[in-house]
Amino acid sequence: MVIEKNVPLQAFNSFGIVAKAHCLARIGSQAELQMLLADPESAGQAKFVLGGGSNIVLTGDVKSMVLKVEIRGRRFVSESDKALVVEAGAGENWHEFVCWTLSQGYPGLENMALIPGTVGAAPVQNIGAYGVELQDRFESLDAVDLQTGKEFTLNAAQCAFGYRDSIFKHQSTSLGLAGRALITRVRLSLPKPWKAVLGYADIEKKMLESGIAEPSAQQVFQWICEIRRAKLPDPALIGNAGSFFKNPTVTPEQCADIIARDPKIVYYHLVDGSIKLAAGWLIDACGWKGKSVGNASVYEKQALVLVNRGGATGGEVMTLARSIQTSVYERFGIRLEPEPVFV
Ligand code: EPU
Repeated sequence: MVIEKNVPLQAFNSFGIVAKAHCLARIGSQAELQMLLADPESAGQAKFVLGGGSNIVLTGDVKSMVLKVEIRGRRFVSESDKALVVEAGAGENWHEFVCWTLSQGYPGLENMALIPGTVGAAPVQNIGAYGVELQDRFESLDAVDLQTGKEFTLNAAQCAFGYRDSIFKHQSTSLGLAGRALITRVRLSLPKPWKAVLGYADIEKKMLESGIAEPSAQQVFQWICEIRRAKLPDPALIGNAGSFFKNPTVTPEQCADIIARDPKIVYYHLVDGSIKLAAGWLIDACGWKGKSVGNASVYEKQALVLVNRGGATGGEVMTLARSIQTSVYERFGIRLEPEPVFV
C-alpha cells in the first residue's frame, strides 16, 4: 500500500479548508487496513480516520496519519416479514447509497437524502433529517480496533446513539471509541411495510402545494432534495459542514423564560418533557445571517450553517463560531454546542 506524504486535504473536507496531511493512507479494504496495522513503522503512529470530511473543521495541518476510508460495495443482505437489511462499505457516498436503495425498490432512507458524507461517517454522527435518524434504520456495523487490529461488530445499543452523537464521538478514557476504531461496513434495516415519514412543516407544505396526500418513497425523496437544495448550500459549490451547531435542549421553565422575552422563538416539545430550541432561530435573532469573520460567513438562507466564502481558514471558522456562541449566550443564556469536530 502506498502511503502518501504532504497530501493537500482541501478536496477531502466539505468546508474546503486548505491544510495538509503529513501522511495519508487510502484504505480500500479491510485487508489493506490489517497490512497497515501490522507494519511496525505505521503501527505506533497516532491515526485520524477520514470519511467524507463533511463534519470536520481543519484548524491546521494534520500530524496524525490520516486513514482515508475508501471501502466500497453495496449489497442486499436479508429480508424478513419485518424488515429488509442492506449493507454498504464505509467509503460509499451516503446520498448515492440512498439513491441505490430506492432504485432497488428498498425504501426507508429517503428522508435522509442529500446528507453529505460517507456511509461510515453516518453512524458516528447519527445523521438525521426530516423525522428520521440513522439509529431508526440501523442494524449493525463492522469496525476494526486501530490499536489491536481486532475486528468487531456493534448493534444499535452498543453504538450508544444520541442526538448527533454515538460512542465514536467519545474519547476512549470514557469507554468511547473516538480515534480508536475504523468503521468498515454498515448494515441498515428498512422496516416493512414501508410507511412515509411526513409531519415536518416543510414536507406538509409540499403535500399541500402538490395535492399529493399519500406520496411514494420516490416522491418524498424528490421533495427532500428540493427542500434541502432551497435552503442549504451545496458543499461542491460553497464549502460548509451542514448544521454547525446542535439544536439545544432546555427545560420548560427555561423555555418559558425565553418566550416571555422573545415570543417568536421556534421550539419543539420532546417526548421526555424537555424542549428543543431551533439554534438557527437563536443565531438569526442575534443578527448573524450574512455576517463574516474573514472568509468564513453565516449562510444567508439558514443561520445554522457556516460557509467558506473562499479561502477561509479553520481559525476564521472557529472565531466566527465562538463569537456566535458568545452572543447567543449573552442574549438567551444558552450555550450552543458545535456539531463538527475540530481537528
Ligand atoms: N430558522 C430561523 N432562521 C434561520 C434558520 C432557521 O428562524 O436562519 C428557524 C426556521 O424557520 C425553522 C426552525 O428554525 O422554523 C428550524 O429550521 P430547519 O427546519 O431548517 O431545521 P434545523 O433545526 O435548523 C435540523 C437539522 C438538520 C436537518 C433539519 C431537517 C440539526 C442541528 N440540524 O435543522 O440537519 O436537515 O433539521 O430535519 O439538528 C445537519 O445536521 O447537518 C443538518 C442539516
